[in-house]
Amino acid sequence: MTSELLTGIGELTTNDPERDGLLGRLSDAAVVIEDDTIAWVGPRVEAPAADRRTDLGGRAVLPGWVDSHTHLIFAGDRSAEFESRMAGRAYAAGGIRTTVQATTAATDDDLRSALAARRDTARAHGTTWMEIKTGYGLDIEQEARLARLAAEESEDVTFLGAHVVPLGADPDDYVALVTGAMLDAVRPHVRWIDVFCERGAFDPDQSRTVLEAGRAAGLGLRVHGNQLGEGAGVRLAVELGAASVDHCNHLSADDIEALAASNTVATLLPACDLSTREPFPPARELLSAGATIALASNGNPGTSNTTSIAFCVATAVLQMRLTVEEAVWAATAGGARALRREKSIGAIIPGYRADLHAIDAPSVAHFAYRPGMELTSAVWEAGRRVHRTGGERGGA
Ligand code: NIG
Repeated sequence: MTSELLTGIGELTTNDPERDGLLGRLSDAAVVIEDDTIAWVGPRVEAPAADRRTDLGGRAVLPGWVDSHTHLIFAGDRSAEFESRMAGRAYAAGGIRTTVQATTAATDDDLRSALAARRDTARAHGTTWMEIKTGYGLDIEQEARLARLAAEESEDVTFLGAHVVPLGADPDDYVALVTGAMLDAVRPHVRWIDVFCERGAFDPDQSRTVLEAGRAAGLGLRVHGNQLGEGAGVRLAVELGAASVDHCNHLSADDIEALAASNTVATLLPACDLSTREPFPPARELLSAGATIALASNGNPGTSNTTSIAFCVATAVLQMRLTVEEAVWAATAGGARALRREKSIGAIIPGYRADLHAIDAPSVAHFAYRPGMELTSAVWEAGRRVHRTGGERGGA
């Protein structure tokens, strides 16, 4: 076993509910990592010895970002669609088919290296856990291929065959395919099933059919809901016990109440809201009612071509009126809860996976206070240093 003492931490965000405040922040702190696990957390002056010692020189440290919603296995570019949207055209689900064409034409190696590059970029910006959805294949062979390749990079792969109905297909026949042979083909590679329950994609009955089939196959449930207008997505997610309902831009008072009374996390995607010019979700109302929220990137070529969680946190604070604490919690512990992994990631607590993010700033407030600035200094994923820009002092 090897151990590393991280000391000189000016501000440590633990997300430990046993400590003070939402973020359980400690000042002048230290952490000991043993192999891939957090072994000790506490004041610097009480830290035990370890094989290696790294002095972080007063930097703030927080858990690695948990990005619980991405669509990063794709090929192609949709900047022209983006440009025309910025010139006034509305977003429509149909743009997904453009990416399906480009993705289908790509080789396994093209997709593998594009995904690995996107994953590495996210890692270099502090993301230590990432969910990845299929959904740019839309036939049996392509969806199974995307699930298999995504599983090389993530333990949280989501089957999103029900992303949009392929051109020329009969919607009911397509739902039968998704819930039959396509589900069987992806099943070995995925943990979750998702459906885009929205006008232009899948209606409430079709969405229910998809989710119930996934549940019968042993998958956890996720829903894209209430993105482009009010609808049944949130109600369905809550009724079926989905782990998360994502987007939530258009919520009724009943939707907010239902989420607050449920175990379903409302996952908010601020970068997507900017790029589609949808109204931001009612984040303050959700929190006041008692709902749990997560923040995620929704990295994808159509509506949110970024994996920067720091950008999402800054936007959530500056535009959605979350406090810094609420936004940082939602992008770490909230993401872990949306993936039902809150007992192992998203916090710096002994026994948790050692996923840590050190920043060139004295406090997490700097994510919103200095928006757009590169703050990441070092990243540990499962105890292994996967990124550093330098500046810390190390020694045996
Ligand atoms: O989460 N809403 C559905 N899926 C993606 C968009 C995918 C695309 O347009 O390519 C989203 O925003």
